[in-house]
Amino acid sequence: MTQAALQFVTPLTFQALSGYPVQTDLLTPEADYAMGHIELARWADVLLIAPATANVLAKLSHGLADDLLSTLYLVAECPVYVAPAMNQAMWHKPVTQQNLKRLQQHGVILIGPESGEQACGDIGFGRMSEPTSICQQIMSESCSRILLGKKILITAGPTREAIDPVRYITNRSSGKMGYALAAAAVAAGAEVTLVSGPVALTAPPAAHTLNVETAAQMYATVMQQVQHCDIFIAAAAVADYTPQEGQPSKIKKQAEQTTLILLKTQDILAAVAALPNAPFSVGFAAETDDLEKHALDKLQRKRVNMIAANWVGREQGGFESDQNALQVFWKNGQHAIAMMDKAQLAEQLIHLIAAQFHKE
Ligand code: CTP
Repeated sequence: MTQAALQFVTPLTFQALSGYPVQTDLLTPEADYAMGHIELARWADVLLIAPATANVLAKLSHGLADDLLSTLYLVAECPVYVAPAMNQAMWHKPVTQQNLKRLQQHGVILIGPESGEQACGDIGFGRMSEPTSICQQIMSESCSRILLGKKILITAGPTREAIDPVRYITNRSSGKMGYALAAAAVAAGAEVTLVSGPVALTAPPAAHTLNVETAAQMYATVMQQVQHCDIFIAAAAVADYTPQEGQPSKIKKQAEQTTLILLKTQDILAAVAALPNAPFSVGFAAETDDLEKHALDKLQRKRVNMIAANWVGREQGGFESDQNALQVFWKNGQHAIAMMDKAQLAEQLIHLIAAQFHKE
């Protein structure tokens, strides 16, 4: 609380209502003994100044640090929000708007003000936004930045394994889940590299997209890109087997029966998870039966941090669908995400991954 705030409400009222100690002074022996202003600024995930008066905006925009609040602002490295509250004429005054613009240029995020009846009787802009809407805006913005600066590598789509120059083996994967995850990760502030098999989708423009065709190409590209990445999400439906050797010329039909010899491909997810500095690795499991058993088995066998399992071969959801439901497993927990649009599902999965990633 600033000295001006103390004229309106006592610290005791605030302390009783919030259940937290109230700090008012920059240099008091008790405050410094409990938590000095530098520690206080370091401790905060977010700094919100509400109500922010014209005077506070002016001080902050010019870097003055003559009380606890303005000093906290200078020390804070976390996101800073201001919720202005002032008379409408003060709000419209060019100097106030200039101060605000300066603060916004320095990254301060503005919430409100709203228009309406003011304490002084005027009607106009300058009313502080409602506390609940201020909290909602901060919550949604800080949630959406949950992977700020993190590097995420995602595989998506099917692979194509050539039998001869005109034929190949592939699967029903549309790539929708992997692409939705790439979009959700970009929205969460991550730097995204998408390694994609052949699909008919447009990649999020902010993602760095590398197109591949075969399981071997996907393996090589992932291994090239995986260094320095924080999270790896294997959403691709990689062929488990590939023809022994792609025939150089078209195979002619002759015999009544023919046999294709298939060789196992390299498991990209398991290979990434086994790297010495492995990123937080997330795999998918598409199962027709015993979902939990198979998913937990994959979690252990591939030594990954998380497995997102879904049913396939059922009426709703799965490979080509726009919707899906997931049962997500990690070492000591699980979480079900109900049937929903893949874009929303991806958003929820990214939040779940981010929460576990930050814990481990
Ligand atoms: N995966 C991979 N590379 C492969 C095969 C699979 O990266 N060559 C990844 C998939 O992207 C997915 C996960 O591994 O995230 C699960 O793949 P799946 O084929 O279902 O698992 P398998 O271990 O092959 O088990 P099974 O065939 O018995 O279901």
